[in-house]
Amino acid sequence: MDKIAKLPPEVAQKIAAGEVIERPVSVVKELVENALDAGAGEIVVELLGGGKNRILVRDDGHGMSRRDAELCFERHATSKIAAEEDLLAIATLGFRGEALASIAAVSRLTLKTSEGGTAAGTLIEREGDRLTAEKDVAFPRGTAVEVRDLFYNLPARLKFLRGDSGELSPIVKYLSNVALAYPRLRLTLRHGPRTVLDGPPVDGLRERIFQLHGRAAVEALMEIDHAEAGTRLQGFASRPPAGRPDRSHQFFFVNQRPVRDKILASALLQAYRGLLEKDRWPEAFLFLTVPPDEVDVNVHPAKSEVRFLRSSSIFQLVLHAVDRARARAGGIKPVAAAPADRSENRGDEPVEYIPGAPGSADGLPFRVEEGKFTDSERLPFLRDGETGPALAEASERRVLGQYADSYIVAVDPDGLMVVDQHNAHERVLFERFAEIDRRRSWPVKLSLIPLLFELSPSQTVSLEANQGLLQESGFRADPMGGRSYALLEYPDIFQPEQALMAFLALLDEIRDSKAGERKSKLLATMACKTAIKAGQPLSREKMEFLVRELFRTPNPAVCPHGRPIVVRLSRLEIEKGLRRR
Ligand SMILES: Nc1ncnc2c1ncn2[C@@H]1O[C@H](COP(=O)(O)OP(=O)(O)OP(=O)(O)O)[C@@H](O)[C@H]1O
Ligand SMILES: [Mg+2]
Repeated sequence: MDKIAKLPPEVAQKIAAGEVIERPVSVVKELVENALDAGAGEIVVELLGGGKNRILVRDDGHGMSRRDAELCFERHATSKIAAEEDLLAIATLGFRGEALASIAAVSRLTLKTSEGGTAAGTLIEREGDRLTAEKDVAFPRGTAVEVRDLFYNLPARLKFLRGDSGELSPIVKYLSNVALAYPRLRLTLRHGPRTVLDGPPVDGLRERIFQLHGRAAVEALMEIDHAEAGTRLQGFASRPPAGRPDRSHQFFFVNQRPVRDKILASALLQAYRGLLEKDRWPEAFLFLTVPPDEVDVNVHPAKSEVRFLRSSSIFQLVLHAVDRARARAGGIKPVAAAPADRSENRGDEPVEYIPGAPGSADGLPFRVEEGKFTDSERLPFLRDGETGPALAEASERRVLGQYADSYIVAVDPDGLMVVDQHNAHERVLFERFAEIDRRRSWPVKLSLIPLLFELSPSQTVSLEANQGLLQESGFRADPMGGRSYALLEYPDIFQPEQALMAFLALLDEIRDSKAGERKSKLLATMACKTAIKAGQPLSREKMEFLVRELFRTPNPAVCPHGRPIVVRLSRLEIEKGLRRR
């Protein structure tokens, strides 16, 4: 008995579409790639409901003629390749002529496009695979595609979509990748009324990394640029021994295309073997430029993987590139370099104390140029001069050095003291924060990309109960649906990642406290999260500053959590021990 029947074309089309378009981020990716292929200088993405209800992608690229606008929805209709041999050397992001056909098959879609000039623009509306309208429209040069009700006719797919923030977060991730790959692009992402990502054009990758990830990220990187046999690896990667506690910051691009790639990822790991501390992973923003005929980009339905013709030489290239960069960056400094040396060869470093700034920032292959970026990461209340000249009593106190990268050893006329650098800094910051809080003048920083997080039910309760308190101190977190939240604003004393960690710690801390103690718990936690850690080498200036500031606080003996800050060995004890008395 015959069992095989050819599927009706609508069904076949939906199956094919389902391979290309898996979820909202797939639509965003295809539309943005088209905009980039059209030479856009600006791309705006607007979403509703995590992209499930509406996705609009607008560009100022070269647009389409009336005939092209009609044709672009046909399957295998493309302007990017013309013959089979073109598949051997693809220089554009798209090449299959499948994306718009697939998106149109599973949504309600409106296309507006114009090549500029005097000819009218074109508006086309489609529903599923049907054309529902086509007319002239006034539209500036460029293209806008609006996709509504994704998968309205594919309930099986619809069922598997996540909540709004679950769909939003891969879109933010993808667009951050685009921002990195195209620093000169102006890229905006709006979700409902909220601007989630706002990336004005910048000069290069370093500035873009700064824009997206902040100063600390930039300072922990070294520049990579190495070529072998026509293949070049460029970008930035962790400067040993810095690294990240997770692998989430490894970005690879092959010929400007963001990719996941096992070869690049494992080469990176191997390149850093033995260079990073335990449980640290290299951070990387790496761009590989390969001759187009040595890489096959047509191996994955969403084009997010590639295959290399000479994969072992790519592997070697990564190893060599990291090695070279490391040599150029002046080799690896032991974490425990003598602090005195450090202060001497960094005369250009401000003496000013910047909490959270990495202690090993000297000798960087590059620096974020002063004045180039807004100085938001520098504490406005810790500027030069404000700390004043050393007080009289401070001159009697002298810092001798640092022990075990964690303790400051100092003397005064009464004897010897050992100061716990973390606890001391916590106390200093706590007093400053308390002062700022009294004045209600927290400098607030907006998150450039929203810091998304999920809360346990008990944390949710803590958040709701303490909204007012948190807002007073500069934190604003908005619900994103379900258990997801986004941290949109935070006090300008944190690096973005620190801010999120501190915020989560705060929720736990204040949950179990009595109402009257919550504010001081909150300030103590903020101080703890921004204070320098044990194990961090400090320059002499920083140690002197810290000790001076500590003794200006009303309570230099114990930290805000109640732990001692200073142990003393009095002159009497010393002399007794040495049998001089
Ligand atoms: N934003 C845009 N600006 C100008 N032309 C566009 C735009 N989007 C699509 N096009 C035109 O429509 C054609 C079809 O687009 P579609 O995304 O379906 O296929 P593709 O980009 O050629 O290949 P792929 O399926 O790999 O994305 C493109 O080749 C291009 O000529
Ligand atoms: Mg395309």
